[in-house]
Amino acid sequence: MTFFHDAIGLEEVTREGGTVYLRAADEFEHHSLTLTETDSAGVDHIGWQTRKPEQVAEYADLLTDHGVDITWVDDGEELGQGDAIRFQTENGHQFEIYYEMEKPDPPEERRSRLKNRVYTPTKTNPIAPQHIDHVQIWEPDIVELSEWLQDVLGLEVIEYYNLEDGSRWGTWLSASGFKIDVAVIHDDAETATFNHTAYTVDNSNDLFDAYDAMKEREIPVDGLGQHSISRGKFCYARDPLTGHRIEFSDSGYFVLDPDWEPIAWNETDLEDRQWMGGFDGLETVDY
Ligand SMILES: [Fe+2]
Repeated sequence: MTFFHDAIGLEEVTREGGTVYLRAADEFEHHSLTLTETDSAGVDHIGWQTRKPEQVAEYADLLTDHGVDITWVDDGEELGQGDAIRFQTENGHQFEIYYEMEKPDPPEERRSRLKNRVYTPTKTNPIAPQHIDHVQIWEPDIVELSEWLQDVLGLEVIEYYNLEDGSRWGTWLSASGFKIDVAVIHDDAETATFNHTAYTVDNSNDLFDAYDAMKEREIPVDGLGQHSISRGKFCYARDPLTGHRIEFSDSGYFVLDPDWEPIAWNETDLEDRQWMGGFDGLETVDY
């Protein structure tokens, strides 16, 4: 909580049974991140919300048809969330699909008077990211996983990056039309791992404020700059206790074209994957 609440600026919604439920300042949904006390750090699952209530059961049938074992999670088992299914991908990414999520009001003294904003801004935290932006996952078979995410879950490839030898280094996919919902990056390890969760900030100056706030707290920062891929501007911070990494993310672009052609990058196109600055965050956490 020192990292996720005090430093990053996520709001605590509630806590129950050793789990703390957190959300960002502009999120109406019950939570976008939960922390559960365990002996070692890891990721339990990544949740995806469907567009319609009936699609949770439809995905359950579809995944079963594709030979994926699914487990139903009953309404309320994860606080604030309706019936959901959990399953794992071929190499071990743990996914959940849900539709219903409560939208609780913050405590009255923190409720914004603007009805389209959730929390009133606080001066105690200079950053207060707005909402979850994307996740980055690592994986040995990224071509297969990317195709699976397209064919089965219905995501769209926005950009991809090939190394000079023609092998795929990364694929950036979206379900929402925003630049990325998930980045899938190649890793030689045999099992899937998790690199970071990104939260959107209001403007690029917030990235400098985030960097400044992390330095004041002696929290490791993995870089500040702008990616070439996605054009997202970034600042990465890592929890010294658990190794979990949070990206503060700004900019990028929307893909509204139904006939979008994925942007193909080759390692030789630019001298560096980062357009400005650098990112040095090679540690991941296991599921
Ligand atoms: Fe990212």
